[in-house]
Amino acid sequence: MFATRGAIKLAARSFSTAVPQQSKVAVLGAAGGIGQPLSLLLKANPRVTELGLYDIHNTPGVAADVGHINTLSNVAGYTAKDTDGLKKALEGAELVVIPAGVPRKPGMTRDDLFNTNASIVRNLAQACAEVCPKAKLLIISNPVNSTVPIATEVFKKAEVYDPKKIFGVTTLDLLRASRFVGDKLGRIADVPVVGGHAGITIIPLFSQVEGLELSKEERDALTYRVQFGGDEVVKAKDGAGSATLSMAFAGARFADSLLRAAAGEDVLEWAFVRTDLYKSEGLEFFSTYVKLDKDGVKEILPLPASISEYEKELVKNAIVELKKSEAKGTAFVAGN
Ligand code: NAD
Ligand code: LMR
Repeated sequence: MFATRGAIKLAARSFSTAVPQQSKVAVLGAAGGIGQPLSLLLKANPRVTELGLYDIHNTPGVAADVGHINTLSNVAGYTAKDTDGLKKALEGAELVVIPAGVPRKPGMTRDDLFNTNASIVRNLAQACAEVCPKAKLLIISNPVNSTVPIATEVFKKAEVYDPKKIFGVTTLDLLRASRFVGDKLGRIADVPVVGGHAGITIIPLFSQVEGLELSKEERDALTYRVQFGGDEVVKAKDGAGSATLSMAFAGARFADSLLRAAAGEDVLEWAFVRTDLYKSEGLEFFSTYVKLDKDGVKEILPLPASISEYEKELVKNAIVELKKSEAKGTAFVAGN
């Protein structure tokens, strides 16, 4: 029986007693808006036994700070100034979480970040392919719909590619869908969110939530809010960046899911992965239901047959967009 994940469960578990598991987690971009609270949450997770923090600057301070939290894990922080700093952060890592790169400002799309973030992700993925090719990569840096294909191409070039181990983290969309519908439902329920991680490629499957009845207007409004939830935060931060705290929570949940799966638990998550589901339509990456095990992806499940006609239409439209982002990412590595 595969358990789905709830936000509250992670908060409760984060401070529970130690679990005998050796798991090094590396965070690349650890001094940033996401990187700092994410490092904090990972330090609080008893499944993490070692944290390797890397950023171009300020990481030793973050490491010293979170290092005082009383879980039995060791923390080390490296910067670009340290000899082999990135290598040291990555050595022995089971998971590498990548929130390195620039965030959006009001008026920008995630794709507007491509010019800066594509090379950051490519270079960091190259280091992972060299130092810890068997680690699971959790890519947060936007545009996720392109950065995951970029990391994939880098691993293919280095001849160490394993599609079971590269994930685009879309968990924040799941948290948003769950939270936004929570008031209507009167409880927090898992809401599957599939597709990708940008605008209309984000598809919440409200039809799959037991006991949820929405009018057409409610369904349209909630769907739009999940698709453009990131813009709400960008607007509210007014030039100071995008979601950081909720993203750190989401990243910590996804990392915890992989660590629990590595410890032998059956875990169901949703993530942007390489899949054959839409291969006939020329699309290789899609966020869907993913069963996890110690190697990463155990099984990729198709969307339930019972999704609504409205959701089927959203999937159709998303595929058109996703193909463009995927092609852009793939071409970037091929041309460099
Ligand atoms: P930020 O600017 O606060 O932090 C980014 C960090 O990356 C900085 O500390 C910077 O020094 C570091 N960095 C830059 N180049 C680096 C390199 N080559 N190596 C290591 N570190 C490097 O930004 P943020 O708010 O933390 O957002 C980071 C990224 O995450 C953005 O691209 C943002 O769009 C994305 N994001 C994704 C999601 C998602 O759901 N997947 C959610 C929120 C934000
Ligand atoms: C989000 O969904 O919050 C992130 O992708 C950041 C953004 O640019 O909106």
